[in-house]
Amino acid sequence: MRRAVCPGSFDPVTHGHLDVITRASRLFDEVVVAVGVNQSKQRLFSAEERLEMLTEAVAAHPNVVVAGFDGLLTDFCRERGAQAVVKGVRSGGDVEYEFAMAQMNAHLTGVDTVFLPTAPTWSFVSSSLVKEVARLGGDVSALVPAPVLDRLAARLSGP
Ligand code: PNS
Repeated sequence: MRRAVCPGSFDPVTHGHLDVITRASRLFDEVVVAVGVNQSKQRLFSAEERLEMLTEAVAAHPNVVVAGFDGLLTDFCRERGAQAVVKGVRSGGDVEYEFAMAQMNAHLTGVDTVFLPTAPTWSFVSSSLVKEVARLGGDVSALVPAPVLDRLAARLSGP
């Protein structure tokens, strides 16, 4: 069984993430979407909320599972018996940042990273920009699944 881990913070999941996850699901027997649950960055959504949104978003893919992880990604890959990490890359900037992490992960346990170039339709999409635009009243309805849009609206209209 060829198993890959697709890690990220997914705060929140976007169509760009889902494109990469869908394509990874065609390349591997199983894809584990790994949601970093305990990182220092301030998040808009809790780990539980991010896991719920992702689980709903990947429900149509029988070989994709969603899990939270804490600690080193390489330890999680080993626990899950994954041979590869899959990452989407949007730009040269992403490649530079991701290369060091891929090489560190390979150094730690030998796990390989497979980079998928983001589909051009989504290459400008990031969770950070989606949150910023939504916060300022812009329309992000084409960039995230409908349930995520609802949660964004509810969270940003709150006190
Ligand atoms: O969506 P993000 O913020 O780019 O996701 C980053 C993530 C969660 C993939 C990365 O921070 C990560 O792998 N964290 C786990 C901790 C770890 O293994 N650090 C060493 C990386 S070389």
